[in-house]
Amino acid sequence: MIENTSINTFTKNWDTELADAFHIFNQYTQRLEEAYNQLQGRVKEIDREMAHTNTRLKDKVLELDNVTKYLNSLLRSIHSGVIAVNIKGEVSTINKAAEKILKLHASDVIGKRVEMILKDSDGSTPLLLALERGKNCIDVERKIETNQGTLKWIESSVSLIKDANENTIGAVEVFRDLSEIRELETRLRNADKLAAIGAMAACIAHEIRNPLNGIEGFSALLARDFEDSDPRKKLVKNILQGTKNLNKAVTELLIFARPLRLKLKNSRISEIVDKTLFFVIEDMKLKGVNNIRVLKERKLDTDVLKCDPEKLQQAFLNLCLNAIQSMVSGGDLTVFTRMQGDDGLGDIQVGIRDTGMGIKKEVIHKIFDPFFTTKQEGSGLGLAIVNKIVEAHNGKILVESTEGKGTTFYINLPRNSNSNFDADIFDNRWGKNVALIPHYL
Ligand SMILES: Nc1ncnc2c1ncn2[C@@H]1O[C@H](COP(=O)(O)OP(=O)(O)OP(=O)(O)O)[C@@H](O)[C@H]1O
Ligand SMILES: [Mg+2]
Repeated sequence: MIENTSINTFTKNWDTELADAFHIFNQYTQRLEEAYNQLQGRVKEIDREMAHTNTRLKDKVLELDNVTKYLNSLLRSIHSGVIAVNIKGEVSTINKAAEKILKLHASDVIGKRVEMILKDSDGSTPLLLALERGKNCIDVERKIETNQGTLKWIESSVSLIKDANENTIGAVEVFRDLSEIRELETRLRNADKLAAIGAMAACIAHEIRNPLNGIEGFSALLARDFEDSDPRKKLVKNILQGTKNLNKAVTELLIFARPLRLKLKNSRISEIVDKTLFFVIEDMKLKGVNNIRVLKERKLDTDVLKCDPEKLQQAFLNLCLNAIQSMVSGGDLTVFTRMQGDDGLGDIQVGIRDTGMGIKKEVIHKIFDPFFTTKQEGSGLGLAIVNKIVEAHNGKILVESTEGKGTTFYINLPRNSNSNFDADIFDNRWGKNVALIPHYL
């Protein structure tokens, strides 16, 4: 009996405990289910948030992309050069205009130190100075030296680039090429000078030539009165030579200052070059110059140009003579003709290159000035005349020179231009028919 009771009690207890356990289990399962549902809800929420954030991020990237494209096209379209550097002074951005002004490619300079591509002629680099001193500089005119060694005038402003916390993270330089303006100013100055020379020449001719002729005549008479052995005869001969030199200088000046009109006709540039070289070679033979090679390079399909062939021949001749005079120990004189531009309608370019002594950087900007010469026998009018002849054809003349290596003059002549044949320009000393003046070579 006792045993039965205890079994009954045990069974009853066990049932209750099992029921409790089930209850608890159910409760936990329910809670777990609730937690799971909550978690699922949260995950969905997070998914939604992430999708939203993703869309915003995509919008931001798109916006950033658009801003970058906008800034790049802005940089591309402005005519001023723009160069930005990071805090280490390495180029991070360079626009098309800067590439053009400095004659280089962005791919070659990005990441390089800025002083390798843009520095002043005195060696300083304003972008680096601005970073060093923490200061901007606005609208400064500077003379820079390009990678190819060409000097250019630019107007530039340098500003520091700051991040959101006002820390300097780089600098940017915006610059404008002033070389053409400077060139025009120089031309204008030269034109003024030439006009003044013209007026002066007329006076000189009148005031100097008449008494000079008197002195020459009387000295000649005096010379006749002295015996050859008489030392005074030598002195009088010196006076005669002096008056002759003076007369020649005045004559050259007068011819140079005399207005001239171009006689235009369709002519072949190659023929003008050939005639010029014929004179050059003949003159070299005459003077026994045999250490200079004369070379011709022709890269033109059609070279007919409306021009004044005689005047152009004078210009080419002046340039060839300068070239020969610069090669005192011999060398190569190359005359080349080629087309500018790919469409076949561009300028015709005539180049005269020598392997002579070159022109010093300090004087290269003066060589077209009338009367600038570094030669004892030179009058300094040769290039001024070349310049006038080229300008009258609406052309351009450029020079490239390396001291000790040589010089190249480029003459660009437009094909379709109304040449300035009515304008007053200044004549060459050699008049219509080219003849070599003995003191050359
Ligand atoms: N090819 C060249 N190589 C080196 N220097 C040159 C060259 N062409 C010109 N020059 C420099 O330019 C100066 C001016 O030249 P330009 O022809 O006007 O005068 P010039 O030759 O001195 O005298 P001239 O009037 O008798 O020709 C020269 O004195 C010389 O210093
Ligand atoms: Mg000369």
